[in-house]
Amino acid sequence: MAQLWGGRFTKETDQLVYNFNASISFDQKFYKQDIRGSIAHVTMLAASGILTEDEKNKIIDGLNGILNDVESGKLEISDKYEDIHSFVEANLIDRIGDEGKKLHTGRSRNDQVALDMKLYTRDELLEVKGLVISLIKELHQLMKANVDTYMPGFTHLQKAQPVTFAHHIGAYMEMFKRDLSRINDIFERMNYCPLGAGALAGTTYPLDRELTAKLLDFNGPTLNSMDSVSDRDYIIEMLSAFATIMMHLSRFSEEIIIWNSNEYQFIELDDAYSTGSSIMPQKKNPDIAELVRGKTGRVYGALSSILTTMKGIPLAYNKDMQEDKELTFDAIDTVKGCLALFTGMIKTMKLNKANMEKSAMNGFTNATDAADYLVNHGVPFRDAHGIVGQLVLYCIEKDKSLLDMSLDEYKSISPVFENDIYDAISLKACVEKRNTIGAPGKEAIEKVISINEDYINSL
Ligand code: ARG
Repeated sequence: MAQLWGGRFTKETDQLVYNFNASISFDQKFYKQDIRGSIAHVTMLAASGILTEDEKNKIIDGLNGILNDVESGKLEISDKYEDIHSFVEANLIDRIGDEGKKLHTGRSRNDQVALDMKLYTRDELLEVKGLVISLIKELHQLMKANVDTYMPGFTHLQKAQPVTFAHHIGAYMEMFKRDLSRINDIFERMNYCPLGAGALAGTTYPLDRELTAKLLDFNGPTLNSMDSVSDRDYIIEMLSAFATIMMHLSRFSEEIIIWNSNEYQFIELDDAYSTGSSIMPQKKNPDIAELVRGKTGRVYGALSSILTTMKGIPLAYNKDMQEDKELTFDAIDTVKGCLALFTGMIKTMKLNKANMEKSAMNGFTNATDAADYLVNHGVPFRDAHGIVGQLVLYCIEKDKSLLDMSLDEYKSISPVFENDIYDAISLKACVEKRNTIGAPGKEAIEKVISINEDYINSL
């Protein structure tokens, strides 16, 4: 047991209590951030006249030595320390002696851990941002390559109207663009430095908090010391944004699974992204998509845990807040893994364009267009809807599509139909006539693709 606070105690901590309280098993993840924060802190202490230049240099050398030795494996982070802060401080004192005892001047573990967690999540948020950008770039390629790939659009998972694969992918593009903008918002809002808040009420030393913030690339210092040590909003916001990313990936995975099914065969997942069955030799399963869909629950769980943990905590720091870490680390690893694998999966999947188009040709996806044809010939829409309903019923009875019907058959249901009905309800016409902003027509989608191109170039 190695603790920073033995002075006022007459008894050793019970071993079970010690284990229950200790956080080194998980907070060792941010040893780099802890050392970076300490270097900024002592730099500021020296600039503010609280430490001498000599003391500062000795401490910084010691801290860099610890960092190098941990990175090279020479120094192992041992669980005989309570947390990563104690580990670094104890090692510093071992290494450089008395000057090491000055590191914690004007600092509490409360503002220290608030800083470490913020630095760590800020770094990870940027990594997730990079992965979302890679996915967005992949979606952009898929859109560019598929403006003429027709497929059915669905509502209620029933064929509705024809769209293109570019248009369908374009829907996910919008979702991930919003995810990216949420990440940017969160970054801006969280980017204020809590170090210098002390335990809860600031310190009596003349700390230059502006300088500390600058040294650590923050926009500035936080403005209330009690909030600084007990704010976990940025974690909640980040987990909420991650939960939304996972929800998007999960919906997309569900579609991949459907498209890859024997019934649909719209796509074929690459062998490298599929798995087999131990008993059924014919199987090629979409396990990656299923796992992404499944892991969504973990990230939702993390969000709901931290919201629950925070709801009853009085100001300022309370130990409950130590519970923010494991679930956040798990959610970060999950979202990073899922984004990377998902991007690889869609990059390597093969499209079965002929099957998509064939599927769009049947199922009466052109029924709305047949009704629009009648409207363009003066029939009120509600009547046109009824007439096409009769056509569909007739076709179902005769097992044919609207394009298979003869003009005589059309005329037997409504005399308004002429020979140009066939062009009006061809698959190509159904898609290409839809050219308002956001619609699947080629002209409309190409406009969106060029907007996305500018957007991607600006990232
Ligand atoms: N391990 C603690 C945490 O993660 C560090 C802060 C400890 N502060 C304290 N007053 N016990 O929250």
